[in-house]
Amino acid sequence: MMSKKKFNVAVAGATGAVGNQMVSCLEERKFPINSIKLLASSRSMGRKMDYRGDSVAVEELKESSFKGMDIAIFSAGGGTSEKFAPFAAKDGCVVIDNSSAWRMDPDVPLVVPEVNPHAVAQYTNKGIIANPNCSTIQMVVALYPLHKKFGIKRIVVSTYQAVSGTGKKAIEELDSQTRAILSFKSCENKVYPHTIAFNCLPHIDVFLDNGYTKEETKMVYETRKILEDDTIGVTATTVRVPVFYGHSESINIEAKENISAQEVKSILKNAPGVKVVDDPKNNVYPLAIDAVGQDLTLVGRIRNDESIKNGINMWVVADNIRKGAATNAVQIAEILANKYL
Ligand code: A2P
Repeated sequence: MMSKKKFNVAVAGATGAVGNQMVSCLEERKFPINSIKLLASSRSMGRKMDYRGDSVAVEELKESSFKGMDIAIFSAGGGTSEKFAPFAAKDGCVVIDNSSAWRMDPDVPLVVPEVNPHAVAQYTNKGIIANPNCSTIQMVVALYPLHKKFGIKRIVVSTYQAVSGTGKKAIEELDSQTRAILSFKSCENKVYPHTIAFNCLPHIDVFLDNGYTKEETKMVYETRKILEDDTIGVTATTVRVPVFYGHSESINIEAKENISAQEVKSILKNAPGVKVVDDPKNNVYPLAIDAVGQDLTLVGRIRNDESIKNGINMWVVADNIRKGAATNAVQIAEILANKYL
């Protein structure tokens, strides 16, 4: 049941791909809002956005924006969160941050409500709660019930990530490049180092000295933090694909205990936030276009890995803007509102 109290809520980055969805999720899920403040850069000054039929003027994000606010949901980039979240916290406004800025801070809880809702309680440390990386969220929603039952020793994951994860400029770039190529015109690469239309880029976020990207590294450390188990081996290859919305993942796990595809299917059928979509003989398996616009993590192609003992393969798909970002953040806000504020 939702809290009877009503809250003053700010959305920082409200004009962006995720921020916009955050505003819609607050509305859809009937979050108990007293007043809403929509914040963005000075570029968006004068813009109006709709909230529950009201036209709300977008305001410039400033250090003083959070006075009198109870909860601020941020999706305005890491630098912006790093700079402004402490000002919000100082004014007693709890931050739920979608960037990677605070995720690995030991004092900041990193929360997926289906997995570690209890961690929200640690918001009192810094007044900040981190929302995990989109690819990590859908992976741990699918794997947590299996980890509880069988103990996961190792995860090998390859992602097929939609451009919307990069933001609205990347959505525009895929659109314009696709149109240009289909019209035999040349196209410009502005957001990514290479053309994303009709291509796959094994490169998300910056490269680190060990040859992995920062996105791949996020999947390793965030997974361990959320599952509260530093012994799990995780190795990731993250790939940007020419899909607008919906991330897909090929996941291979090795369990500590005896596991079978049949057991995995029956456990996941009852797992919170998961929908098993697995009838390959009838061409039924999770698809990005089916995942979009809803909040469940779709899991299919569940099969035994015949190359190792206790290995399982699966295909996991979710709406990266909703469950991978906005919905997860609003679910965290709901826990805060119901239990802690
Ligand atoms: P704006 O639209 O005014 O640029 P996306 O992830 O889709 O690119 O969106 C990023 C969001 O973060 C947008 O709402 C953008 O606002 C906002 N943003 C980016 N930089 C800043 C900043 N320095 N201060 C406040 N908001 C910012």
